[in-house]
Amino acid sequence: MNKNPHQRMTVPGLLRMKQQGQKITMLTAYDFTMARILDAAGVDTLLVGDSMAMVVQGHENTLPVSLDEMIYHAEMVGRAAERAMVVVDLPFPTNHLGIHSCVAAAGRILKETRCQAVKLEGGADQASVIQALVGAGIPVMAHVGLRPQSVHAMGGYKVQRDEERLLDDALAAQDAGAFAIVVECVPVQVAQRVTEQLAIPTIGIGAGPHCDGQVLVVNDMLGLTSGYVPSFVKAYADVGATVNSAVRQWCDEVREGVFPDQEHSFDQ
Ligand code: KIV
Repeated sequence: MNKNPHQRMTVPGLLRMKQQGQKITMLTAYDFTMARILDAAGVDTLLVGDSMAMVVQGHENTLPVSLDEMIYHAEMVGRAAERAMVVVDLPFPTNHLGIHSCVAAAGRILKETRCQAVKLEGGADQASVIQALVGAGIPVMAHVGLRPQSVHAMGGYKVQRDEERLLDDALAAQDAGAFAIVVECVPVQVAQRVTEQLAIPTIGIGAGPHCDGQVLVVNDMLGLTSGYVPSFVKAYADVGATVNSAVRQWCDEVREGVFPDQEHSFDQ
């Protein structure tokens, strides 16, 4: 964690954390309220992930969320974060529409949201796009291994075991100028070897303990996800159950005339 609680996390700050062997924390955030809580709790990096399509919008995969919707939510998160660095996902298929169009989309994100960086899915295949974004002064986090935006091509959400491809992708993203790389759903030992060969930080999800940092979808780790939760997620709270119980009690008290009582009402 950043030593100075008032200092904003930056790209060089994350690189320093890798060099000093300090683990980097990243959680997704999609709105002002949650972003404020996560920022105050000391999370280093917030990700306005396109997982929003699933956990906020209720879609079955990440493909439907639009650039305008990402910007709408990123603006709330960007305004809430005082200390964490905020990274915004480029939604499908923004980074496949040509360099000019992708720089324009990422530029809109930085101009309209106060966020500091973008993330895109891809490695070697996205090297020219990463280079163009970085050339325009836009910090880029790459995303290799399981790429949820390619779910149809990959035939589902599966562990990615092709070490040579993973390393090629990670090195190509680093050479193109990416400042960090999300590594999703790969065996522990593969993620460890990739992490050891990179100068930039790896942020793992379902990739074991040897990555330079960890990221989770916040709804999953807090027990707010109603459907499938991947097996690599540890539940740190059951907020969904807490809300359910509070709301049931409120409904009962309203129906029985117990709420509102005198303490929660105004006298003349
Ligand atoms: O969209 C997202 O939440 C992500 C994380 C799972 C890394 O890309």
